[in-house]
Amino acid sequence: MAASIIDGKVIAADLRAQVAGEVTRMKRDHGLTPGLAVVLVGNDPASEVYVRSKHKQTQAAGMASFEHMLPADVVQADVLALIAELNADAAVHGILVQLPLPKGLDTEAIIAAIDPAKDVDGLHPYNAGRLAGGLSALSPCTPLGCIILTKSVHSSLEGLDAIVIGRSNLVGRPLVQLLLNENATVTIAHSRSRNLPELCRRADLVYAAVGKAEMVRGDWLKPGATVIDVGITRVPTTDGKTRLIGDVAFDEAMQVAGAVTPVPGGVGQMTVACLLVNTLRAACAISG
Ligand code: GUN
Repeated sequence: MAASIIDGKVIAADLRAQVAGEVTRMKRDHGLTPGLAVVLVGNDPASEVYVRSKHKQTQAAGMASFEHMLPADVVQADVLALIAELNADAAVHGILVQLPLPKGLDTEAIIAAIDPAKDVDGLHPYNAGRLAGGLSALSPCTPLGCIILTKSVHSSLEGLDAIVIGRSNLVGRPLVQLLLNENATVTIAHSRSRNLPELCRRADLVYAAVGKAEMVRGDWLKPGATVIDVGITRVPTTDGKTRLIGDVAFDEAMQVAGAVTPVPGGVGQMTVACLLVNTLRAACAISG
């Protein structure tokens, strides 16, 4: 029997509607409008698309959206000055600096300058450390989305064998921590791992976050496994256009797995929805 498709579009829309409901309640009962500031440096086309989508969805949820576009040749001190301004601004509850930053800027120092209470990306070392310590923390949005998608299939992840392929700070590492907090048994795999297909075949939950198109094949999967595909690679098509494909060979996975996220329409939809969740959470915490 073919696997079921985990519909990220529907799940993300539900989440956004819940956030919008909470925002309405906050405005009515507390006179508070959660605000998100997004900083985009330079004009990377993919980043511009993401930032536009964040702006639209933030406004659609009833929140205030503040966009700060800086030129690619901006100096470090000017970025840090903007972060200090946003840290001090009472109308801003969440700050996100779109990555990657242009060469010449010190990404680590810029992220470390964000007030951890406003770090809705969950990338500040304070939040990453709290997450790793099993403490409550603002957590990165894509991994949060992966957990929500998994929970649409499994009400509990306790004792399930999970494999996370990829160890980036944005996805793989925080995802491992979130899975541990859910009491899953986690294998962390990466480009140097040996016997990857074999490791994968043991897993009930497979998270592919390496950025290699269709790397995970159908015969790497345990029958019935839940497969969450974080990869997005843009490839040219024969008609001169492009299309997005994931890290998992989707058609093969559909023959073996129990449930699979599509690309597009899976994890990608969840990232911005979780950013709105984090902004709401930050606004609640900051305003007490
Ligand atoms: N670039 C791609 N994904 C992300 C993300 O989740 N956060 C930030 N800040 N930049 C990104």
